[in-house]
Amino acid sequence: MEKYIINGGIPLHGEVEISGAKNAAVAILPATILAAGKCVIENLPAISDVMVSLQILSELGARVRLINKNTYEIDTTYLSCTEVPNELSRQMRASYYFLGALLGRFGNAQVAMPGGCNLGPRPIDQHLKAFTALGAEDSVEYGMINVHSDSLKGVHIFFDTVSVGATMNAMLSAVLAEGQTVLENVAKEPHVVDLANCLNMMGAEIRGAGTDVIRIRGVKSMHGCEYSIIPDQIEAGSYMVAAAVTGGDVTVRNVIPKHLEPITAKLRLAGCEVEEFDESVRVRRTGDLHPLKIKTMPHPGFPTDLQPLFAVMLCLAKGTSIITEGIWENRFRYADELAHMGANIQVDGQVAVIEGVDSLQAAPLRASDLRAGAALVVAALGAKGTSEVDETSHIERGYENIVEKFQALGADIKRVDKPVLNVNQAM
Ligand code: EPZ
Repeated sequence: MEKYIINGGIPLHGEVEISGAKNAAVAILPATILAAGKCVIENLPAISDVMVSLQILSELGARVRLINKNTYEIDTTYLSCTEVPNELSRQMRASYYFLGALLGRFGNAQVAMPGGCNLGPRPIDQHLKAFTALGAEDSVEYGMINVHSDSLKGVHIFFDTVSVGATMNAMLSAVLAEGQTVLENVAKEPHVVDLANCLNMMGAEIRGAGTDVIRIRGVKSMHGCEYSIIPDQIEAGSYMVAAAVTGGDVTVRNVIPKHLEPITAKLRLAGCEVEEFDESVRVRRTGDLHPLKIKTMPHPGFPTDLQPLFAVMLCLAKGTSIITEGIWENRFRYADELAHMGANIQVDGQVAVIEGVDSLQAAPLRASDLRAGAALVVAALGAKGTSEVDETSHIERGYENIVEKFQALGADIKRVDKPVLNVNQAM
């Protein structure tokens, strides 16, 4: 067990390199199953969700070879097992992508109900709706989701809600189905487009990813490819906010500035200077922070995954901010931790009202989920004194080398082992 010790109050300066997108990587790795060949996937973030995905592929019978820290060769030619081990699928939400990929290739898949961040109810009815529309049967037995089909057939699917996971899972299960599939009311996130691009490199015929309608012409077989994952928009946004919170000057490199537009727009409204270059953005904050009204929405709206980080910034703004969470029922679990730091944040259901304070104080903090954890790290970097952030395994599910990246920006942060409590000593 590890924790971070952070001496805050130091403005961050310098450059930080953004890793590959977690939410693209965790779908593209299962997608290699559909290739039934050798894929080389580059720019994979070195995070625990990626390690779990690689381990699942290996347990299913794929040959997984490390080329370098961020590049793996995955050969799924002889992969034949269709049951994802329970203890692995429960470690992350994205294990549900193995359902779509295994169903697409073998007509069969068994995956335990997925784990991941606790953000309130996280149904997968729209994923199952897509599988059954394509001709599969599904059942849930003893915590395992089973999907089966003798032959998948293209179909028109209108999603009841805009879902990243259901959109990507429908794509995975439809690329090898017979005939044309049309997906309507789909998610348009950059990682949806990235998965479509990767599947097309494997021989799929997908058009329209990034718009409301995706058209898939089923192909008979797919093949291996080399593919480089896009930069992580949420990791980039996290460092941009950290620059703002600490009153620093940070250049965030290896990004696609277009993907950051909803973030850039809000940072400018909050009084930060944001300069855009071809593959980087520079964020500076010299004056006061202004309050904001934010409502999280599917892309291209303001991303829910940055909501906790913006909340930290708004705790230090001059005036009253309002954040409305439009995606998840329970994404303000970090608010109590911020209150321990002296923040004035009131949560009522899906709405948080934040009255800015002059400064935050150091405190012992506990990460309740991935983005909440990152937000607490940023809050601690902005607070004078020594904070400890506990349960950091949540954070390392999604941020590659977060401690080292902040250290390189001048932060005083270190990762330490948490002593295991000896019961006899404690008594
Ligand atoms: C993805 O989750 C991301 N996870 C989440 O990021 C992110 O918060 C979310 O998209 C929204 O952008 C991964 O990509 C692994 P959804 P996902 O299906 O796909 C409802 C992070 O911090 N819904 O787009 O699970 C659902 O309840 C994580 O990196 C249904 O009703 O999200 C929610 O209200 C946390 N039925 C909304 O749709 C369904 O079948 C959007 O969920 C599916 C979803």
